[in-house]
Amino acid sequence: MKITVAGPGALGCLIAGFLKIKTKEDIWVYDNVPERARRIKDGGIKIEGLNGVHQARVNISSDTKEIGVCDFILICVKSYSTEDACKDIKDLVGENTFIVTLQNGIGNVQILNDYFGPEKVIAGITNHGSTLLGAGHVRHAGKGETIIGKSDGKLSGSLRDLQNVLSKAGLETKISKDIDSVIWGKLVINVGINALTAITRLNNGALTEYEEARSLLRAAVQEAAKIVKRKRIKLAYDDPIQKVESVCKATAANCSSMLQDVLNRKRTEIDFINGAIVRQGKALGIATPVNEVLTNLVKAIEASYDKVVK
Ligand code: PAF
Repeated sequence: MKITVAGPGALGCLIAGFLKIKTKEDIWVYDNVPERARRIKDGGIKIEGLNGVHQARVNISSDTKEIGVCDFILICVKSYSTEDACKDIKDLVGENTFIVTLQNGIGNVQILNDYFGPEKVIAGITNHGSTLLGAGHVRHAGKGETIIGKSDGKLSGSLRDLQNVLSKAGLETKISKDIDSVIWGKLVINVGINALTAITRLNNGALTEYEEARSLLRAAVQEAAKIVKRKRIKLAYDDPIQKVESVCKATAANCSSMLQDVLNRKRTEIDFINGAIVRQGKALGIATPVNEVLTNLVKAIEASYDKVVK
């Protein structure tokens, strides 16, 4: 099988590295930044794993013609770049190609469906924690489950092939027949953790140690839970607040992806996480004041990296 990971960020490098090290498949990375692609080609991918350091030489290119048509393309870019990635990877997509998203937030599946057609799209989530330490260099910060599925709930041989290859790579993967609720379940977790860690600069575990942070986490999650209820989405867990707090504990040492973005002075995925809750709330007539404040604060932080008083 030929598999391309599009986007050598924290998750992209983790997945591409493990696929290369632990399977015999033809693994490629697509990077739209040629200079970075050259550095990763020379230096390879280095994963500071949970048990030791792993190193992998991967095929990486900014030229999609060099990569050619693939069986699976895993979109690992930030959510705000999904549309651009769709345009970039068109040479990789053939008649039997599946495009896979494990990205944070909601909205990515719709973009891929619109661009490639829902029959070619596999949606999913992963709870593996990964921190980008440099070009091609990541720390595997925590294990978690990976769940994939088709929006129409149908099972297929390709879905099982993807499940097997990801599991072989050490990313134990399940298939769900209700992938939308899995994605919403992950969204609720990101709503509680990401913006608050980015604003407070705390790691995930510390959020529950400070009562003020904890009460904001609970309020943001409660707003998201109201939307979930109104949309009649059945989450895989009964108590959203308890679930988010348990993820905080399970990933205590993690620096969330949004905090990593802020520390690296990069654009965040706020519009696809807390911002998405605000938009959904407006459409459904549900008040989301806490998510609105969190969204605006993160946007203000993003817009003012150069003006921070030292
Ligand atoms: O975005 C992240 O960092 C992760 O999705 C999660 C689960 C919040 C763990 O840090």
